[in-house]
Amino acid sequence: MKTPERVIAIDGPSASGKSTVARRVASALGLRYVDSGALYRGVTWLALREGVPPEDAAALERLLERADVRFGVADGAVRFTLNGTDPGLALRGADVNANVSEVAAAPAVRHRVVAWLREMRALGGLVMEGRDIGTRVFPDTPYKFYLDASPEERARRRHAEDAGRGSAASLGTVQASLQHRDRIDTSRRADPLKVAPGATVIDSTGMEIDDVVAVVCRAVGGIAPSAKEGRGP
Ligand code: DC
Repeated sequence: MKTPERVIAIDGPSASGKSTVARRVASALGLRYVDSGALYRGVTWLALREGVPPEDAAALERLLERADVRFGVADGAVRFTLNGTDPGLALRGADVNANVSEVAAAPAVRHRVVAWLREMRALGGLVMEGRDIGTRVFPDTPYKFYLDASPEERARRRHAEDAGRGSAASLGTVQASLQHRDRIDTSRRADPLKVAPGATVIDSTGMEIDDVVAVVCRAVGGIAPSAKEGRGP
């Protein structure tokens, strides 16, 4: 069933399973998938490339005034270029990981990125994952979810994911990095990570991804994919 006007907000901490769930829900319901964290990562990547210190809020603001961002859709997901370049895998690099929470805490950066995310409405119905989608970006959407999992489970998932990309970081290092980001994301003054009023909270510890996808699809009145369809190629 195609439901082009909907915005489904999926918030939660790092490695709670948001990306996988959001992608599959988008594909099941014929909506566009949006990774809002990628934009904060993109701004961080641009700042590092241009030599702007991540803690210099005024310089970040000037950087964004000059930035040329373009959106497009590929494979059901909203993609972007910044100053003509798609940063691609550079968004997941160690230097971006180490600095993105600080950049994302700058009010001027948040203001600009929230405006970009709202512009994406023009592209059709969306499944957007992030930290403040239900609280700030689209507070009026009736479809809000907060996905969580225990810190140990999240570290285990992120460690497996990173190892698959060739990273040699230990489980302990991954867990410490997640804890550091959680602390900044939940304690920052501008739009901290929290459960939006009216959001459905799903603790995915011990749940299969297919089951989480099914819970979300049913809650928004769509048809959940079968486990086989949901798993993809
Ligand atoms: O989901 P992620 O790990 O790619 O997010 C990267 C950073 O961006 C993380 O520190 C939280 C921040 N972020 C945010 O503040 N608001 C969002 N809507 C999405 C991400």
